[in-house]
Amino acid sequence: MKKPAAAGKFELGVCYYPEHWPEEMWEDDFARMANTGFSIVRMGEFAWSLFEPEEGNFQFGLFDRAIESANRHGLKVILGTPTATPPAWLTERYPEVLNVTREGVTLQHGMRRHYNYSSPKYRELCARIVGELAARYGSHPGVAGWQIDNELNCEISDFYSESDHLAFREWLQAKYGTLEQLNDAWGTVFWNQTYSSWSQVFLPRPTPVAGQPNPHQALDEKRFISASAISFARLQAEIIRSKAPSHWVTTNGLFGHLDNHELNDELLDFFSYDSYPQFSTIHANPAEENPLLDRSWSLSLSVTRSISPNFCIMEQQAGPGGWVGRMDMPSPKPGQMRLWTYQSIAHGADMVLYFRWRTATMGHEIYWHGLNDYHNRPNRRVREAETIGRELAAVGERIVGTRVQASVAILRDYDNEWDGEYDVWHGPFNWKSNKEWFKALQYLHIPCDIVYVRPMTTLEELARYEALVYPHPAIMTDATAALLDQYVQQGGKLIFGCRTGYKDERGQCYMRPFPGAAGALCGISVEEFTMVKGTRLPVGIIWSGDSATLTGADDFNDILQVESDSVDVMGTYASDYYTGKPAVTRNRRGAGEVWYYGAVFNEAAARQIISLWGLRSPAADWLELPPQVELQIRSSESASLTFLLNYSEEPAEILLKAPRTDALTGVELSGRYTLEGYGVLLLS
Ligand code: GAL
Repeated sequence: MKKPAAAGKFELGVCYYPEHWPEEMWEDDFARMANTGFSIVRMGEFAWSLFEPEEGNFQFGLFDRAIESANRHGLKVILGTPTATPPAWLTERYPEVLNVTREGVTLQHGMRRHYNYSSPKYRELCARIVGELAARYGSHPGVAGWQIDNELNCEISDFYSESDHLAFREWLQAKYGTLEQLNDAWGTVFWNQTYSSWSQVFLPRPTPVAGQPNPHQALDEKRFISASAISFARLQAEIIRSKAPSHWVTTNGLFGHLDNHELNDELLDFFSYDSYPQFSTIHANPAEENPLLDRSWSLSLSVTRSISPNFCIMEQQAGPGGWVGRMDMPSPKPGQMRLWTYQSIAHGADMVLYFRWRTATMGHEIYWHGLNDYHNRPNRRVREAETIGRELAAVGERIVGTRVQASVAILRDYDNEWDGEYDVWHGPFNWKSNKEWFKALQYLHIPCDIVYVRPMTTLEELARYEALVYPHPAIMTDATAALLDQYVQQGGKLIFGCRTGYKDERGQCYMRPFPGAAGALCGISVEEFTMVKGTRLPVGIIWSGDSATLTGADDFNDILQVESDSVDVMGTYASDYYTGKPAVTRNRRGAGEVWYYGAVFNEAAARQIISLWGLRSPAADWLELPPQVELQIRSSESASLTFLLNYSEEPAEILLKAPRTDALTGVELSGRYTLEGYGVLLLS
């Protein structure tokens, strides 16, 4: 039985590093945290050298006192296990614990995350420090829970130490049993790669064309990294569970090469995410139309919710972010920090901790601003946090445990994500289509979920949704196609984009007409296909029906052929030698319909499909919103809260066609309402 992130009241808090500050400052810091409305504080996750200054010498005094001081001010503590930063004495004595690049360069002490998950020595030393910490604090009433490591696979998600190569070989032996099976799965007959002994098998190593290993090996590499990160976390979770049975266990972050769903299901009480929405603003493509900017972070939050419906934000952006030599973000404008906090909450967070209490005066992150500045005098960000603290103290208990409502989901799966990292013939398409669909749904105020298709995914999980979008599942098994068919037969709407269904689980192409495993579902075949780039002019799709709308057929075109009487052509190509050929089809199947869209999605095409499907905002009957306002709804059986978030600096005019109560002020609202720039409104 999993423990909840919060029960009864909303948990608001902050990350704090007692080891960074003179002890005389702690009492004042904790007292001010309590006054800000905080109830929880995370500490410890990088402090291994303080817990164990030399091998086997354990010292807990500093953290005993820090926990006591926090508790005195009513703050509960989340303890991070310190395994993301092995001490210098450890890496000097046991260099085999260090991570190594594919080229064989050992990554040395001096930053963080310089270790590997496979080294038996590192596992032994991690088990010991985690065991000591759990024994010390496992029944401490002032400790609420544990964070395993810090951001597994952040900064680096590839591992090529000697131990990793060996562990990969063992993992492959368990998976394939025989070398024949391995050779078959990796297609090693191609270019004479056939292995005749297990001793020849490694993780990808440097190749004559840099970064070009065997593609099937590259897919297994990602699966192995995920398995090894999970087994590293399992070691810690089991120790904490045995010594701290009343505490919850989580870990933070959403990084590559890690099946976070499996990690959460098997080991954690709930998942935690670190939310820095300004990453999407600084990395925005200036050429993009209608970019979502910080609002696109709602997509990552939706992924987090797919792992754990109610989650923790272990690090919520509390100021401009920056490392000394990398990352330089603008300061959040007045109101933006509050907006981002409610963005997390609107998507399912029941606990939010700001990163961090005060900006560090030393180290890589002297520009990663906390709530407080170096000078420690009151500032705008602290005042904004106090407002949020007051609001959540009043309304938090109505939020906690409620679930986000959505009737549309975008489907994803790890195999396609990992295969697509390497395969440029489908990977980049997936990211674009996800973004464009999300954008269209956001601007039309139609909340959407992300669902990861996994071997254990059930019809019941899918049948909650009126419509599913599975943009480019190049890898598709017949079992997945059968599950999707059940969903459609019982009345669901499903759409695929180009490059669907043509690869098997090994990443090899089926000798079947495309879309392979999805062929019967869609009732079409792909006559031929082409990339749209180079000398090719942009292609369009003319949609059938009254509107005769034209949208772009971006990046890749599958030229479709109807194979069944139940199929209607919904759009045809408008240019090139395939002018007039089917580009979009609808197959009526059982009580539902399966659509095939032959290109990479763009916002206009997504809007067209949304309109043809008749999807609308769940609040359409009582609320009119401008596009810059995000709508999310969190409900329980007895209550429902509507979150409205204005991402613009300018005020937004909204219209309430039926009266509602402003849950933060208790005031009844109806008719026209002006939501201030970066404003937040919670309606009940
Ligand atoms: C996170 C990390 C924190 C801090 C923060 C700002 O990725 O967990 O320790 O580094 O980013 O860079």
